[in-house]
Amino acid sequence: MASLHTTVGGVALECCIYNASGPRTGSIEALAKIGSSRAGAVLSKSATLQGQDGNPLPRYKEMPLGSGRCVGSINSEGLPNKGINYYISDAAVAAGADFGKPYILSISGLSLANNLEMLSRAATVPLISAIELNLACPNLPDKPIIAYDFGQLESVLTEVHNLGIFVRKPLGIKLPPYFDMPHFKECAAVLNKFPIKFVTCTNTIGNALVVDWETEQPLIAPKGGFGGLAGGFIKHTALANVKQMRQLLRPEIDVVGVGGVCSGKDAFEHILCGATAVQVGTCHWTEGASCFDRIARELETIMLEKGYKTIDEFRGKLRAYEKARANKKLTFSAPVAGDFGSIRTDVLAKVIALLLAIIAALIFDRMT
Ligand code: DHB
Repeated sequence: MASLHTTVGGVALECCIYNASGPRTGSIEALAKIGSSRAGAVLSKSATLQGQDGNPLPRYKEMPLGSGRCVGSINSEGLPNKGINYYISDAAVAAGADFGKPYILSISGLSLANNLEMLSRAATVPLISAIELNLACPNLPDKPIIAYDFGQLESVLTEVHNLGIFVRKPLGIKLPPYFDMPHFKECAAVLNKFPIKFVTCTNTIGNALVVDWETEQPLIAPKGGFGGLAGGFIKHTALANVKQMRQLLRPEIDVVGVGGVCSGKDAFEHILCGATAVQVGTCHWTEGASCFDRIARELETIMLEKGYKTIDEFRGKLRAYEKARANKKLTFSAPVAGDFGSIRTDVLAKVIALLLAIIAALIFDRMT
């Protein structure tokens, strides 16, 4: 058997796949569905100090990509959430703890003072296993993405450090995507100065615009249609960020991959680039919590076919390009990418069930 066991910032996870903060994470009921699934951890919605409604609807749209199950999406939710006290309550934390899983709190304050206040409150809750501080939300009108300003990133982390939180909870930072080599280096140089336990790469590609050519308007309402691009649209940017950050950060800082994971193959690629765990966002939104089980099984299939027993055996081991190797591709005997050729496995299962029902009805008809 292949094991998907991993650790993130010293916290043990039975399965290296869990949810991204955002889709289906706003309520305790939704968090409990993640807890009861195969997900390795339960990560909350990004909390603000007070609850808020977020941006006007429609603020999320998805778009199919190719013939398989993979989708891309755009969102500008504007941090709708129930406020920090909800996500640190006993009932919320139980969504992880009741299922023997780590509960990770995501926070994304509207100001530094709010982030510090939320961190102080979270530090007192024993069953919060770790905190992901989101410094990358692109969807708040008139608020820049903090982690694009390396001076501000350093001063925020200095204040967070002064709070003493680093010794009380494993703390990670959710980063925006970077696109330029000097930016990767500058960001990593700042992060390396602090006892951060993990980084999550990456948030959405901010301020994209999807246009509906027929109606001649944007697909979503807030911010003039500008929103964060996610899902399959961003996998290759996410992989590049995982790879670069793994290379540039101190080895003790884990990298969690997020962006475009909708199959075991996508998860495998993130791990190959250096991720110790992989989050699922858009696909979780589309498919619900059953996606964690499916992706985990697909990843196990790939590992078995390749002869890997643990994810550590291939984590961060992306090879250099070699022409001879490119010409020698593996052929898999089992479906690994949530599809069967171009047919989705869930559709295939329904067709088979229908055929069996028809055959049973015909046999019954003959016998009576
Ligand atoms: C939202 C979007 C993000 O990308 C994020 O990291 C946090 C919040 C939002 O629009 O709600």
